[in-house]
Amino acid sequence: MIIGLPKEIKNNENRVALTPGGVAEFIKNGHTVYVQATAGEGSGFSDEEYALAGATILPTIEEVYGIAEMIVKVKEPIDQEYNLIKEGQLLFTYFHFASYEPLTHAMIQRKATCLAYETVELKDRSLPLLVPMSEVAGRMAPQEGAKYLEKPLKGRGILLGGVPGVKPANVLVLGGGIVGTQAAKISAGFGANVTIMDISLKRLRELDDIMPANVTTVMSNHYNIKEAIKTADLIIGAVLIPGAKAPHLITREMLKDMRPGTVLVDVAVDQGGCIETCKPTTHENPTFIIDDVVHYCVANMPGAVPYTSTLALTNATLPYALLLANKGWKQACQERDELRLGLNVVDGKVVYPGVAEAFGLPLTDVAEVLA
Ligand SMILES: NC(=O)c1ccc[n+]([C@@H]2O[C@H](COP(=O)([O-])OP(=O)(O)OC[C@H]3O[C@@H](n4cnc5c(N)ncnc54)[C@H](O)[C@@H]3O)[C@@H](O)[C@H]2O)c1
Repeated sequence: MIIGLPKEIKNNENRVALTPGGVAEFIKNGHTVYVQATAGEGSGFSDEEYALAGATILPTIEEVYGIAEMIVKVKEPIDQEYNLIKEGQLLFTYFHFASYEPLTHAMIQRKATCLAYETVELKDRSLPLLVPMSEVAGRMAPQEGAKYLEKPLKGRGILLGGVPGVKPANVLVLGGGIVGTQAAKISAGFGANVTIMDISLKRLRELDDIMPANVTTVMSNHYNIKEAIKTADLIIGAVLIPGAKAPHLITREMLKDMRPGTVLVDVAVDQGGCIETCKPTTHENPTFIIDDVVHYCVANMPGAVPYTSTLALTNATLPYALLLANKGWKQACQERDELRLGLNVVDGKVVYPGVAEAFGLPLTDVAEVLA
C-alpha cells in the first residue's frame, strides 16, 4: 500500500502520526511511504531520519495526498485539506466528528473513508487510541499544577513535596480513571499528600491496592469534595462520564471555600470541565484567575510535549495502521471488531451511529459496506 504522512497544519499541533521507526516497519512489510518535508520536525524527527528509514520525502502536502492510498495523521483534516482528499482514500486519524459538522459534510462530499482513532474500541469498552493521550495529560497535570503553585505565577507558593520539617502540599484528584491514576501517581512521586476520589467503589479498591502510602482513596460525593477543597493546594479534575458532559463537581460558589492561590487543573475541560468556572485555554495563555484561584484548563495538554505524545500515540496506532496496510481496510475491519468500530465514514457514507444521530444524517449499516 502507498502510505502518506502529511505535516500537521492545525494551529500548534507538533505531533506527527509516524516516527522513523514506524516508517521502517511499513517498509519492512513491503509498503511505500511518502513523508511531507518537515512533517516530524515538531516532534524532533528530521527528514533525513525518515529517508534513512526508507521513506520518500515530498516537498508539499498536495503531493502527499495526491499519491497516497492511506493517509495517517494525528488531528482531523482542516479546511485547507478537504479538497486534497481523493475519493475512496483511507484516512486514519483523530476526527471527533460529532463536535464539528462541517468536517462530517466535507468527508461525505469527498467520498472519503474515515477510520477514527477515538472510536476504535476494545471488547472491554476501553479506547486504546485515546488512552495514551490520557496518560500524557494525567502525568502532566501535577507538573503544571506544581508550576502554577509558585508565587510568581499567582499560586500559594507551596512546594508539592515540602521539605524535611515542612508539610507537603495537598493534592486532590477528582476521578480515578486513566488521567486520575497517572496524576495521583506523579503527585505522590513528588511527595505530596494525595487524595483521589471516584464514584466507583471497585475502582477505589483497585487504587487503594496499587497506590503508595501517601495516596488516600475517598468516595466522591458533594460532602466529601466540599470538605477536601478547603485544604487542597492543587485540585486536578479527571472525571469522565462516557458520551456526556462532565458533571460540575466544583461550582463557582465553592471557590470561596478555597484558600487564595489554590490551583485547579481541569483536565476534563475537553468534555466541558468538572469545575464550573473552567473554560478552555491554550498553551499560549494557559491560566486565568477567578476569586484568587488559578485555573489551568488547556484542552490539548499533550500538545506541549510532542516528543512524548508522538511516541505514546504511535506506539498504540502503529499496529493498527500496519494491519490496515497489510490486509487492506476491509479485511482488517472484518477481522478486528475494534477497527470496525473505528469506521465512521466509508466512501462518503456515514456508518457510525453517533455521527449520524448528531447531525440527522442517514446511517448506512457497516455490514453493508464491508460485504
Ligand atoms: N485536556 C486534555 O488535554 C485531555 C487529554 C486527555 C484526556 N482528557 C480528558 O480527561 C478526562 C478523563 O479521561 P480518562 O481517560 O481518565 O477517563 P476514564 O474513563 O479513564 O476515567 C474517568 C473516571 O471518572 C470517574 N467519575 C465519573 N463521575 C465521577 C464523579 N462524579 N466523581 C468522581 N469520579 C467520577 C469514573 O468512575 C472514572 O473512573 C476526559 O474528559 C478526557 O477527555 C483531556
